[in-house]
Amino acid sequence: HGPETVSPTGQPTGAEQARMAQSGAYLTTAQGARLYDTDHSLKAGARGPVLLQDHHLREKITHFDHERIPERVVHARGAAAHGVFQAYGTAAPVSKAAFLAKGVETPVFVRFSTVLGSRGSADTVRDTRGFATKFYTEEGVFDLVGNNIPVFFIQDAIKFPDVIHAGKPHPDREIPQAQSAHDTFWDFVTLHTEATHHTLWNMSDRGIPRSYRMMEGFGVHTFRLVNAEGDSTLVKFHWKPKLGVHSLVWEEAQIAAGVDPDFHRRDLADAIEAGAFPQWELGIQTFPDTPEQNFAGIDLLDPTKIVPEEMAPVQPIGLLTLNANPSNYFAETEQVAFHLGHLVPGIDVTDDPLLQGRLFSYLDTQLTRLGGPNFGQLPINRTHAPVNDMLRDGMHQTAVHRGVAPYRPNSLDGGCPFLAGEDTGAFVEVPAEVAASVKERKAPASFDDHFSQPRLFWLSMTPTEREHIIAAYTFELGKCYEQAIKERALTVLANIDSELCAQVAAGLGLPAPAAGARVTDPAPSPALSQLGRAWPLD
Ligand code: HEM
Repeated sequence: HGPETVSPTGQPTGAEQARMAQSGAYLTTAQGARLYDTDHSLKAGARGPVLLQDHHLREKITHFDHERIPERVVHARGAAAHGVFQAYGTAAPVSKAAFLAKGVETPVFVRFSTVLGSRGSADTVRDTRGFATKFYTEEGVFDLVGNNIPVFFIQDAIKFPDVIHAGKPHPDREIPQAQSAHDTFWDFVTLHTEATHHTLWNMSDRGIPRSYRMMEGFGVHTFRLVNAEGDSTLVKFHWKPKLGVHSLVWEEAQIAAGVDPDFHRRDLADAIEAGAFPQWELGIQTFPDTPEQNFAGIDLLDPTKIVPEEMAPVQPIGLLTLNANPSNYFAETEQVAFHLGHLVPGIDVTDDPLLQGRLFSYLDTQLTRLGGPNFGQLPINRTHAPVNDMLRDGMHQTAVHRGVAPYRPNSLDGGCPFLAGEDTGAFVEVPAEVAASVKERKAPASFDDHFSQPRLFWLSMTPTEREHIIAAYTFELGKCYEQAIKERALTVLANIDSELCAQVAAGLGLPAPAAGARVTDPAPSPALSQLGRAWPLD
């Protein structure tokens, strides 16, 4: 890497671009030396042992040996596309973000994913789907890292390792892949009843989307928008697909998982290649930023709650069009790194304790996954805004930084006349009062209501949708070995709706608990990993 290979903003130039494009007429070593044979190693005689001296052999195999990076600890399986976001300007009164001003077009990269399965798992499993969008705005990168379900399993990020340990395959046999049909999942979600709402969405048709192009997306948490006057508004983000929301039925999902495990990624790539560009409108629900941070009694900091659209309509603020497939899966879909802390002026976070923990987790995990602190320089992660930071060196550094004084102020390099406190149009946190309080590990009392919104969801379903939900609970719970877990799950269902509970109980061949039965602490149960047990087939 000579100094001419990287432009001052970190973009590769000239020779570097040619190297990356692999465009030479001859096959070469990584150093550019031409090769005359890449199929036979250098040996002591045609039938003799291989010589250590064969650098090409060692370079080729060594590089191959290190081709894999760790898959994401969650959302390992994904498919992505490039596109453009065009702002309607309707959000301008509530946010000063430049990319939300009328008519502004911003390049984006969107990665869809399942959550629990490994990188090679099937697409059409029953699971939540990730919907992560990177906006390359002129004011820096903004990431909206959402899901296709508007609520989450837990209310505090400290439980995230626990819910994922419970949802991932069992540690002994590493089954099942990417579905909720197992004891640890049901054990967790019935003992932590805040998970009831998300679980119900998973058991509904939302858990088996027909296509990534036909899914809604949700920012889940409440965010804060700030306008040019400094006024702050609380919002929830929604993506609404132009094609409408469609799901598979369970039998289709199962057949597709067997016949074409790549069903969703193939659908996305084929549609884009054919010019049928999928589109979503981005919308916001807006709420006054009051000290209580609740709306009509719904705690806006509780990520297990929605605000019904009848109470706060989703107002469209822009249009997303996905119009190009990645040209290299690894470089783009695998190496993209989203982060909730990637914010631009006009968009800020709130004190939702799940959101706050995510602010820590993503960078931390990416340091391992992407091998050190410089993954922001990878082409897919690079901001389109000029960069003038003071970050230097480190593993996989590819920028050739100029100057001698990476600190501010300095009297040697000049160049950046920035003074602390000066109005540079920079991101500034909204001054928000923090309640005078004692340190405590406690959730607000409003977080204790775990059943009223699941009930609302159930009651909003059509008879066919209810049938699907009953069948899903019956199928998934039917995979559990532990009777006590099934019984506890029925108790949770009794707290949602007695008919739902009765039908699932009948499907499982168990008595239905009385309405309002209480979920109690579990009795110790024998370990699951006893050998010799068959995995139930249906
Ligand atoms: C990855 C969404 C909660 C930790 C992801 C991805 C999405 C997502 C969409 C995939 C990003 C990609 O495509 O690369 C969400 C949503 C959440 C949530 C909507 C709740 C509302 C959490 C929490 C934690 C967490 C509470 C940890 C405390 C992670 C980690 C990754 C990830 C470690 C892998 C990131 C990487 O390797 O690049 N999440 N997540 N998530 N999430 Fe979350």
